[in-house]
Amino acid sequence: MIGTYAYCLKKLVLIFGLIFISSISVLATNVCNFNVRIKQTLINEGFHRNITYGIIFNTKNDDERWLYADCVVGLEQVLPSGVFTNPDELSDLRRSKKLNAFPKNRVNVELPAEQSSPNRVYITGKVLDGKINLWLPVHARYHQAVSGGGTARNEIEAPTLFLHCPDERLEVCGAKNAQAVFSCNGSSKEKCKWKEIPYTMMTETLIWDVPVGNTDHYYLVATGTATVIVVGSLYLLKAIHEYQVSHRKKKL
Ligand SMILES: *[C@@H]1O[C@H](CO)[C@@H](O)[C@H](O)[C@H]1NC(C)=O
Ligand SMILES: *[C@@H]1O[C@H](CO)[C@@H](O)[C@H](O)[C@H]1NC(C)=O
Repeated sequence: MIGTYAYCLKKLVLIFGLIFISSISVLATNVCNFNVRIKQTLINEGFHRNITYGIIFNTKNDDERWLYADCVVGLEQVLPSGVFTNPDELSDLRRSKKLNAFPKNRVNVELPAEQSSPNRVYITGKVLDGKINLWLPVHARYHQAVSGGGTARNEIEAPTLFLHCPDERLEVCGAKNAQAVFSCNGSSKEKCKWKEIPYTMMTETLIWDVPVGNTDHYYLVATGTATVIVVGSLYLLKAIHEYQVSHRKKKL
């Protein structure tokens, strides 16, 4: 009898415990209702283009303004191996205060796509009136020529959104939000603690098709060049020979 009692009590404690824990997690997710939307687009044409990000925080509800007011947004963008940012161009933009963007690792701007790997870039900026527009100048890498030519497809994924605030306000948003540490604005000294923030993507994955050289054309060009060289050399040899012959005749 006592055994069953103890058993029931244990079960009850377990059930109440579960209810308690789940109510805490519901509370935690409810506290931080960011309601962020991002539009990501690829503008311009050719090998040099511009990714733009329109980021809007929920402004319908004034109660939620405290969550992001005076905070800084950090985007982490993964670029596929066929696309890169130029670190020198980004430092110029930082120096002239036009844009705060910096690559995570060293970038070799000269490698073809086949010898490169995906790279990460951070873009940061302050939220003003519940919104911010960011951008990133990107360049396509050349692909090694293949028979038939054609195009190579680059898919640019959605970025990861981070927020850094001047205080600890984001701590109430629950442990679920991953934390990251990277520079606030590209200066190696100033590191920020960033919280990952969920958002709704309003646009499709960016697709960038890049033309690839045709090795068939290469053979055509190579054959043409070889023919010109051979014919030219023969002509020169003939001219030299004729010159020598006429010279010898004059001497005789
Ligand atoms: C990229 O687009 C943004 C937003 O339209 C603009 O401010 C920026 O000057 C553009 N950058 C380049 C390099 O075209
Ligand atoms: C980067 O941010 C820090 C603090 O927010 C500031 O002191 C520093 O001047 C900034 N550096 C640049 C290059 O903007």
